[in-house]
Amino acid sequence: MRLGGDTRAITKPGQFVQIALPGFYLRRPISVCDWQMGENGTLDLIYKAVGAGTEAMSRMETGTKLDVLTGLGNGFDVTGADEKPLLIGGGVGVPPMYGLCKALLAAGKQPSVVLGFNTADEVFWKDEFEALGVPVTVTTADGTMGMKGFVTSAMDGDFDYVYTCGPEPMFKAVYKVLDEKGVSGQFSFEERMACGFGVCMGCSCKTKYGNKRICKDGPVLVKEEIIW
Ligand SMILES: Cc1cc2nc3c(=O)[nH]c(=O)nc-3n(C[C@H](O)[C@H](O)[C@H](O)COP(=O)(O)OP(=O)(O)OC[C@H]3O[C@@H](n4cnc5c(N)ncnc54)[C@H](O)[C@@H]3O)c2cc1C
Ligand code: FES
Repeated sequence: MRLGGDTRAITKPGQFVQIALPGFYLRRPISVCDWQMGENGTLDLIYKAVGAGTEAMSRMETGTKLDVLTGLGNGFDVTGADEKPLLIGGGVGVPPMYGLCKALLAAGKQPSVVLGFNTADEVFWKDEFEALGVPVTVTTADGTMGMKGFVTSAMDGDFDYVYTCGPEPMFKAVYKVLDEKGVSGQFSFEERMACGFGVCMGCSCKTKYGNKRICKDGPVLVKEEIIW
């Protein structure tokens, strides 16, 4: 979905927006995939239709006006990475990796990308990442495209930092490999949200540095603070 409007509140890759949908009480949080900053900027979102809200989004006509809260969450810190960060996206965790990859390239880093899916039919945004000129490895659990297995099968290359977004079982597996290698990283969490900007405490979770609100203090947590 490409939206047009004021995107000046978006300052970092990995931030998200909250979309109000007519007829739905709660807004739907979706990660910023890519954006052009400006009063008349653009915002690209990629979402999977999983329930009534995203289903309704998928039926919207071009030209529909939406009420969107932008620039939410802390986003990824590109200064945290060393020279060769590895970006790992799993399923709907892939979109924020795209804006992050562009930001890391602009910061002079040499990112490589691993995109993990269940099967070839689910693979998306591979060509767009390749067009950025970065090494891209696709893994599919059933082996129908790229490397057979999970994203961790593609973690034996040369990297000194990891950024990741995806489902929790993938996070735990990635975390374990990072522990073994003594490498740090940033993890972007998905949590059910109500307000999305830090006031309802509905998304609070425990970290080694105390309770944090995933919507406001996250969604990105550094490896060292995560408690599973
Ligand atoms: C920070 C963040 C970024 C996200 N980025 C993306 C993205 O880029 N692309 C994408 O496809 N999906 C993304 N999601 C997941 C997306 O928000 C849910 O798939 C969506 O809200 C489902 O709404 P629904 O009405 O279709 O489903 P329903 O299951 O009918 O939703 C019912 C309620 O549960 C909430 N909910 C359901 N699933 C999730 C979920 N996984 N995470 C959080 N809330 C959920 C809904 O927002 C809604 O309030 C993100 C979630 C978070 C928290
Ligand atoms: S969703 Fe309200 S504080 Fe996070």
